[in-house]
Amino acid sequence: MSEKMAHTNSSLHVEISSLKLENPTMLAAGVLGVSGLAMNRVANAGAGAIITKSMGLEPRRGFPNPVVAQVQGGILNAMGLPNPGIRQLAEEIQKIERKTVPIIVSIYASTPEDFAAVACEAVKSGAAGVELNVSCPHAETGGAEIGQNPDLVEQVVKATVRNVNKPVFVKLTPEVTNISEVAKAAENAGAEAITAINTVKAMVIDVETAQPILGNKIGGLSGPAIKPIAVRCVYEIYEAVRIPIIGCGGIVTWKDAVEMMEAGASAIQVGTAIAIEGLGVFKRIAQGIQAFMEKKGFDGVKEIVGLSHKE
Ligand code: SIN
Repeated sequence: MSEKMAHTNSSLHVEISSLKLENPTMLAAGVLGVSGLAMNRVANAGAGAIITKSMGLEPRRGFPNPVVAQVQGGILNAMGLPNPGIRQLAEEIQKIERKTVPIIVSIYASTPEDFAAVACEAVKSGAAGVELNVSCPHAETGGAEIGQNPDLVEQVVKATVRNVNKPVFVKLTPEVTNISEVAKAAENAGAEAITAINTVKAMVIDVETAQPILGNKIGGLSGPAIKPIAVRCVYEIYEAVRIPIIGCGGIVTWKDAVEMMEAGASAIQVGTAIAIEGLGVFKRIAQGIQAFMEKKGFDGVKEIVGLSHKE
């Protein structure tokens, strides 16, 4: 298949709420999603949608170095949510040439009111939707503390939905006893999609110095090592909610993407794989899904979603 076809093949089209994607791959939050030039490269590389780096109301420097460490099967990071502040975003979004690629702004805050305020600014900046990051495993405030409590998730989603007229996604942490309960709270509060999962809280120690490697000591694990956790979470959430699920966690190949869709994901996000495979990963995954559908005689991506739930 030609590169152009991977952008435009209609059987790869997916709709997540009111958002129309040319293919089911999205850039995951936190990777290349701050500068307009980097996001432009991702859009030109064939991503169906872009999730920005998580943005807050005010600029933030993040944690001291090192903020990233490579481990077997993945990457550990504790960036500390560095970002230029939501008001800087409009200028960057304007630099993205392919206007058909929806830009979804990932946002973080500590209170429902602040989530709503950041979301309003994001929409003013041209966001097609927002993804609420209630799942950062090492945030000083907010983060997974919110995502581990269904009542808080409900309050944050309700406040945001009341204040913005664009789709609201909620990105969940796997570090809960019952992820379906949290997903249901988000759905009941008006979320239009669930993203599962954020990174898994983890640590790596340098044996010579006997010190944790990351500046923040504790970080979040992403990459192939967490894929089975993500597949399990998507599978459980699919049984509990009716809104679309976006699978995220360790997807590198088209097979990983199809597995996530069979578990119940309508679209998938790619992050760590960019470090392993480069930006060509978006087209390779989309082309692989297309070839799989042709082999199976499927007319659209929807036919893959949730297949593993059928006997
Ligand atoms: C970070 O900026 O430290 C990562 C954010 C996240 O994992 O949600």
